[in-house]
Amino acid sequence: MTEMQSKTDAALAAIADAGDLDALEELRLAALGKKGWVSAALKTLGQMSPEERTTAAPAIQAVRAQISDALAAKKAELESAELEARLATETLDLTLPAPQSARGSVHPVSQVMDELAEIFADMGFAVATGPEIEDDWYNFTALNMPESHPARAMHDTFYFPDTAPKGGKMLLRTHTSPVQIRTMMAEGAPLRIIAPGRVYRSDSDATHTPMFHQVEGLVIDKGIHLGHLKWTLETFLKAFFETDDIVLRLRPSYFPFTEPSVEVDVGFAIENGKRVLGGSGDAPGHGWMELLGSGMVNARVIEFAGLDPDEWQGFAWGLGVDRLAMLKYGMDDLRAFFDGDVRWLQHYGFSGLDQPTLSGGVGVAP
Ligand code: DAH
Repeated sequence: MTEMQSKTDAALAAIADAGDLDALEELRLAALGKKGWVSAALKTLGQMSPEERTTAAPAIQAVRAQISDALAAKKAELESAELEARLATETLDLTLPAPQSARGSVHPVSQVMDELAEIFADMGFAVATGPEIEDDWYNFTALNMPESHPARAMHDTFYFPDTAPKGGKMLLRTHTSPVQIRTMMAEGAPLRIIAPGRVYRSDSDATHTPMFHQVEGLVIDKGIHLGHLKWTLETFLKAFFETDDIVLRLRPSYFPFTEPSVEVDVGFAIENGKRVLGGSGDAPGHGWMELLGSGMVNARVIEFAGLDPDEWQGFAWGLGVDRLAMLKYGMDDLRAFFDGDVRWLQHYGFSGLDQPTLSGGVGVAP
């Protein structure tokens, strides 16, 4: 028996005995790998005379084919044995519930904004928006707060070095009121809008965050008076808190952009340590809580926005969305709203499917 024949027999026997795919791969390398003995034998052909090569080459090629066929057959056999073993040991229980994928939730501020849009849409209000990086003119001047006006100090905010198109500085808007001006200028009168959005002030403590949310309201029409304002706010609050027991108190106040200006308070009682809206604030055990600022739009503001104040009147209000959410859903720390703590969001957040509707309820508790 030639040396080649005995090596071939040994290799075929080892392949037949291989216990797993790793062992098989080692055998393949030993024979057919770059440094394997079959490869070495093939290389010797180069040194042979043409006659020698003619007899030797077919034998070596035959050995190579034999070994690689044996390797392929054994590989298929080992792979199917492995699959059989997995099928025998692994089970799939189709009666188990499907694995839960992580689900996000809607932030209470977004939910409350959707609730506001739903309620006011029913009263014929559209949702308007404006930029958060605002021009000094829209944020102050057009709202009847000229350069020297002391009210600008109450609105200490974040200014940008850029000069605004209207001459002043660019700033982070301090309230949603500039949307009043922008919408009047863009759409004229009559008008019914709400403008929810982010606002900024350089303020930070337990009840103030440098960014918070407001919703502005504006109605411009003919023959509008304070009675319309009171009815609108009352109707809104009853729908929002889903109770008819809402008592409002209008207190004289001052805002440069309204004349007269009123602060609107709502009556509440303390139940189980929490404020619950309802009843007159003057009733025993009750109190008044300041809710929002509002008033009849100042004639100068209507003029700044390019409308004739002898023809058009209106009312406006500005309200803290975060405070509304706290009152309705019972959170007590404003800062937690913006910490991005997943546990807080899971507790107070809403399902994306919980769309507020007037018929289904604007305020399904989470
Ligand atoms: N812009 C005021 C603020 O942020 C709130 C406000 C008061 C808005 C009276 C109004 C209004 O539209 O009429 O403090």
